Amino acid sequence: MATTFDLADDGGSSNCDLSNGDLSNGDLSNGDLSNGLVNQNDELLFSRISDDLSKHGYSAIVNALPLALAEQLYQHISVISDDSFKPSSIGRDNGRSNNVTIRSQRQSWISNDSLASSAWLKWASELQSYLNQHLYLGLSSFESHYAHYRPGDFYKRHLDSFAGRSGRRLSIVIYLNHHWLSSDGGELVLYASSEDLTGLRIIPSFATVVVFLSEEHPHEVLPALRDRYSIAGWYSPTLPTSI
Ligand code: OGA
Ligand code: MN
Repeated sequence: MATTFDLADDGGSSNCDLSNGDLSNGDLSNGDLSNGLVNQNDELLFSRISDDLSKHGYSAIVNALPLALAEQLYQHISVISDDSFKPSSIGRDNGRSNNVTIRSQRQSWISNDSLASSAWLKWASELQSYLNQHLYLGLSSFESHYAHYRPGDFYKRHLDSFAGRSGRRLSIVIYLNHHWLSSDGGELVLYASSEDLTGLRIIPSFATVVVFLSEEHPHEVLPALRDRYSIAGWYSPTLPTSI
């Protein structure tokens, strides 16, 4: 069974190599919106993400997205009509098909068509610049979508990037769910490598930010038991070949 990434716990009980160590940023209990320093200072947050990536290949930080931005995105995703969310497709080229045995979430691609989406794209672009400066990742494009998992929806273990292709290099997921409980399911399970079968469970709590190297870390979304909202995005070194 995967280690639960217990946000109310200071990492002490974690027995998983993926642990980033001290994840505390004030009170980390689910749904607690208490604002740590990180929320007021993007640069501090970006430097922590950058450090985590260089040491572990991934970063998972609760209460990390600036709360005003998270709230704006939450308001926006709440009013996007159900029609904007389309069933997901699998694969990036001609072989794509709607395969609900792999994933069943619904998605809506993000463009600069609302204040909230523009604020998100601006923040994501600032993170891109920071990581390019500090980790020399050569990221040059970004694509992202709002995702809605209805009760019962899931996304089985997968990689966001296909080996040997110049595609997605860095993945980011942020969560927009107030008061998420462990019993609500829907955890992201992030694996250290293709060999890792244990993984680290991350609860999709409001304003949690997860960033990881797309080619290194298989991951999956366990079935959600209530509506689950998130944004998933991908940075690539070249223009995306398809959306
Ligand atoms: C994805 C994905 C993870 C999540 O959309 O590719 O892995 O926690 N999402 O929503
Ligand atoms: Mn993924």
